[in-house]
Amino acid sequence: MKLEKVMVVGAGQMGAGIAQVCAQAGYKVLLHDLKPEFVERGLGVIDKNLSRNVDKGRMTEREKQEVINNLTASTDLQDAAGVDLVIEAAVEKMEIKAKIFAQLDNITPVHAILASNTSSLPITEIAAATKRPEKVIGMHFMNPVPVMKLVEIIRGLATADEVYQMIEEMTKTLNKVPVAVNDFPGFVSNRVLMPMINEAIYTLYEGVATKEAIDEVMKLGMNHPMGPLTLADFIGLDTCLYIMETLHEGFGDDKYRPCPLLRKYVKAGWLGKKTGRGFYEYESSHK
Ligand SMILES: NC(=O)c1ccc[n+]([C@@H]2O[C@H](COP(=O)([O-])OP(=O)(O)OC[C@H]3O[C@@H](n4cnc5c(N)ncnc54)[C@H](O)[C@@H]3O)[C@@H](O)[C@H]2O)c1
Repeated sequence: MKLEKVMVVGAGQMGAGIAQVCAQAGYKVLLHDLKPEFVERGLGVIDKNLSRNVDKGRMTEREKQEVINNLTASTDLQDAAGVDLVIEAAVEKMEIKAKIFAQLDNITPVHAILASNTSSLPITEIAAATKRPEKVIGMHFMNPVPVMKLVEIIRGLATADEVYQMIEEMTKTLNKVPVAVNDFPGFVSNRVLMPMINEAIYTLYEGVATKEAIDEVMKLGMNHPMGPLTLADFIGLDTCLYIMETLHEGFGDDKYRPCPLLRKYVKAGWLGKKTGRGFYEYESSHK
């Protein structure tokens, strides 16, 4: 079976990026979110990214138009009735993802593969919300999607070998590098990255150094391209908190407890770049 039609659920920073790379690779893509303005915002981000590519001579205006033509807006999940693959990139909450997957299981054709871009939640548990756990898999893209090469491919307990192979191949058609990972909280990427970010927030919370100093130490001392607090703002502080909660609950180990300062910022609605304020302040916001 060939995967041709894709629905991306959630048109936020990840969903828009995933829709863009799929459309650029020639897939017909439905970009779905709860409200038309959320989808429009995602399509706007894609348009801006593609225009930048045209300005830099990486693509022609005609090629940009072809990519745009591959994208269709959706606010009705029933639109998934004709797709071969769904990539879900809604918020990092199990109850929301489980509900979406149960609905998609009823709507999509029997052959359709249901993938989640979850950063940390168990694929096996998401799959259990469906009657096709063998066709459920994790496709964990990195942020920003059009730039980052890695996709962690996570096999749930029941994921079929042929489904894994199809998704591995599909990932390569997006010009990305698939890496196989088993289903443990946080997989590899966020099991290693997020405790470091959380520890950086603790060092700020305990007054060890200023936010700028913490970021500078990790940039100049460890050769990280950006400091952990800036990175947390880019990821989204809500997403960082959800991931720490998943690690904490999943391993039952207090070494993963989220820093109280992270909780406070999320409660304040300071979610990072996407809301214009996190550890730092930003001009543009998408919420
Ligand atoms: N931010 C990152 O760096 C990053 C990296 C890899 C994976 N992820 C994962 O990707 C997912 C999305 O993260 P994001 O950063 O794009 O978040 P975001 O807040 O930018 O976007 C989430 C989008 O999902 C939509 N949404 C919420 N509930 C929905 C529903 N029931 N149906 C359809 N759409 C719904 C929201 O309206 C919003 O537009 C999360 O699971 C996150 O853990 C994030």
